[in-house]
Amino acid sequence: MKILMVGGGGREHALIKKLRESRYAPEVICAPGNGGIACDARCFDVSADDKAGMVALAKREGAELVFVAPDNPLADGLVDALESEGIRAFGPTRAAAQIEASKVFAKNLMKKYGIPTADYEVFDDPSTALEYIRNKNDFPAVIKADGLAFGKGVIIAQSMSEAETAVSSLMEDKIFGESGSRVVVEQYITGPEVSVLAFCDGKTVKPMVSSMDFKRVFDGNIGPNTGGMGTISPNPYYTDEVAKECMEKIFAPTVKAMEKEGRPFKGCLYFGLMLTSDGPKVIEYNSRFGDPETQVVIPRLKTDLVDIINAVIDGKLDEIDIEWDTGAAACVVLASGGYPGKFEKGRVIKGLDKSGGADGVTVYHAGTKLRDGRFLTASGRVLGITATAPTVDNALEIVYRHIGEISFDGMHFRTDIGKC
Ligand code: AMP
Ligand code: GLY
Repeated sequence: MKILMVGGGGREHALIKKLRESRYAPEVICAPGNGGIACDARCFDVSADDKAGMVALAKREGAELVFVAPDNPLADGLVDALESEGIRAFGPTRAAAQIEASKVFAKNLMKKYGIPTADYEVFDDPSTALEYIRNKNDFPAVIKADGLAFGKGVIIAQSMSEAETAVSSLMEDKIFGESGSRVVVEQYITGPEVSVLAFCDGKTVKPMVSSMDFKRVFDGNIGPNTGGMGTISPNPYYTDEVAKECMEKIFAPTVKAMEKEGRPFKGCLYFGLMLTSDGPKVIEYNSRFGDPETQVVIPRLKTDLVDIINAVIDGKLDEIDIEWDTGAAACVVLASGGYPGKFEKGRVIKGLDKSGGADGVTVYHAGTKLRDGRFLTASGRVLGITATAPTVDNALEIVYRHIGEISFDGMHFRTDIGKC
């Protein structure tokens, strides 16, 4: 069995390592992959956004299954293109991926089906948006680009002048292109955040173990948002009682709503939740595995991932029991100097040979290149040092001990993952 993984970050590395544990012993290939992934899977130089190139690669290599991990190719209909060629694919169709690709679609879906989320209004004109914010005079105001924006499309404006800057950069300067043609202005809500990834086959939804993502770049949860600087699993706020409430009010209704809308969701649906004093609310949906949530959730999976993927594609998720390790996991991201702003690439990574394998540690490569036997930095997020252990504290202690072995010029990371 040959499986093609589309993507090239830490999330894809974690999924590939899990696929390699399958009892079916699949051959896993990846495009584009990265330096570390190349040690686990043959990599091909095809961009995840090159739809025709990816379909051609899958055909040429005779891949029986293609796992589409990143948001862009899902929103662009790579799964539809593969299926129309008769190739099995894991991930939502373009129509179902709208749940992430358009915040307006997601918010309207929640309103129509009574799924709890922050109140909102949609605007396609900057002056009307600003007039609404001015009249409401309720700060902070949350302003979100409708479309995909590299995880940077949410602006929390503390004042009218910050709101003016946000609206003009999204809607007039179009810093995220057409993604900012429409914006959602949302009520600011507060509470602990929880990420829940869930397998869905169009009808049945099976949530995975919970996690918590640390999105801000600096210790103490300050500084700009990043793609995620670290994660822990389980999330300490996600009790069995909260999980039950989320299943009843959010997970099952969302999957049913998508089915009713004629866009059955198959793949991994990511629920970004906030546990407010009014109960859990949806902050965002993603149509894919989260990064770096996957790095702490997937290592805890005990059931064969290939069986789950097949059940998702075949609409038989209700026939399979999914088992999880009862322990915990933690992941700390090592980032390039300057990230999430400007950063340099091509720095030599030292100490990697001393890390990995021992103590339940796995080093997932997020952005590396292999050159002449040495790993070089190749992206903002470079490595995700991950450990599984009986408790989150144990896992964090192991992770931070291993980080001491690894270095590259400009390397920075948070020292308080799981602590605040
Ligand atoms: P997102 O890119 O949608 O995950 O949003 C990034 C972050 O912005 C979230 O993790 C929240 O911390 C924050 N956020 C988004 N929407 C709201 C809201 N309505 N109220 C308060 N914070 C929010
Ligand atoms: N870690 C957040 C995301 O994957 O969007």
